[in-house]
Amino acid sequence: MRLLLIGPPGSGKGTQGERLADALDVEHIAAGDVLRGHVSGETKLGLEVAGLLRDGELVPDELITEALTPALSAAAEQGGYILDGFPRTLAQAERLDRLGQRLDVAPHRVIHLDVDDGELQRRLLARAETQGRSDDTPDGIARRLELFHTTTSPVLELYRERGLLITVDGARTADEITQLILAPLSDALAH
Ligand code: AP5
Ligand code: MG
Repeated sequence: MRLLLIGPPGSGKGTQGERLADALDVEHIAAGDVLRGHVSGETKLGLEVAGLLRDGELVPDELITEALTPALSAAAEQGGYILDGFPRTLAQAERLDRLGQRLDVAPHRVIHLDVDDGELQRRLLARAETQGRSDDTPDGIARRLELFHTTTSPVLELYRERGLLITVDGARTADEITQLILAPLSDALAH
């Protein structure tokens, strides 16, 4: 099973990504985690993108696609993936389409975690108290939310038009959300 997880900052992509990867026995690949790994490892890419991450800006389409391609094709060969946080722009969705044709990694379904901005801000400000993510600042959160609404929302529309989108209420408990995601997938797997 190859799944995309798309949602605003704090909507639970990472939380659900881990649970779904366990349930479906596939790799969880998180775009943000891959980038933060480069930042902490001080790689060339990491040095290039650290400021963008801190400010809540998007990394250039080409860089993020290149950074994810090896993990994506390896995971697809081993049975699938849960890809959290990609694509976030229409240009990235086009790149994924091209990659899908070339490497047989196209997603079967796209999960949209729907949560309102007030709840997202509460979650991320709470997380800022306990974790040290450079972008969990009031300005970083506001910019990430803005970019989701302006730039990533059209990606959801694209997958809706293709009949791949499953929107779930991301304001429920984590257990309920996992079940809401898995139920229609088992129908899809059965057909
Ligand atoms: P990324 O790391 O993906 O950050 P994000 O999209 O801002 O989302 P978060 O990781 O903050 O939240 P999440 O949805 O994973 O929720 P989580 O499960 O942690 O991206 C970071 C940056 O990398 C971007 O800003 C950009 O710079 C760059 N980047 C990444 N992908 C890119 C791309 N494709 N193109 C260009 N640039 C890219 O949960 C959040 C909190 O809520 C946690 O504390 C959690 O415990 C809690 N929580 C989770 N579920 C629930 C629930 N059901 N009820 C209550 N609390 C919950
Ligand atoms: Mg995350």
